Amino acid sequence: MSVQVGDRIPSLTLQVMGVSGPEAVTTESLFGGKRVVMFAVPGAFTPGCSKTHLPGFVVQADAIKAKGVDSIICTSVNDAFVMAAWGRDQNAQGIIMLADGNGELATSLGLSKDASAFFMGTRSKRYAMIVNDGVIERLNVDEKGIDLSSAETTLSAL
Ligand code: BEZ
Repeated sequence: MSVQVGDRIPSLTLQVMGVSGPEAVTTESLFGGKRVVMFAVPGAFTPGCSKTHLPGFVVQADAIKAKGVDSIICTSVNDAFVMAAWGRDQNAQGIIMLADGNGELATSLGLSKDASAFFMGTRSKRYAMIVNDGVIERLNVDEKGIDLSSAETTLSAL
């Protein structure tokens, strides 16, 4: 069962790329006292995520932040090196590329999925959420396609 609107983001330590290597980051520091848009993709550099999902948020980042959003997080079950390289490749400077390398975020949100058919093991479902001070206020999960979790749909909900 996945998290629902009104649930809290679980307390976890994940990674982002720092100036000299991967750095630990807690969900408390990412979400505490902030309004955050977080979206998740099944895999960095995969076609749908690279051609549509992340680029949409890059294009809409300023408009999303202008609606009172403090930060935009892109997360995937990938390591911090891959997430940083993907962010550079996509010019995603305004987006926090959050590495859920062990899949703990996806699993504890109840939003992991079996991608072994693609030789990708256990990954994250594609979703977008709006989180206010650690509490999920909107959650859209795409079981197929990239409609409910797109940047445009998220922007229209803010
Ligand atoms: C994609 O294009 O986003 C994708 C492809 C294969 C597996 C997962 C995602």
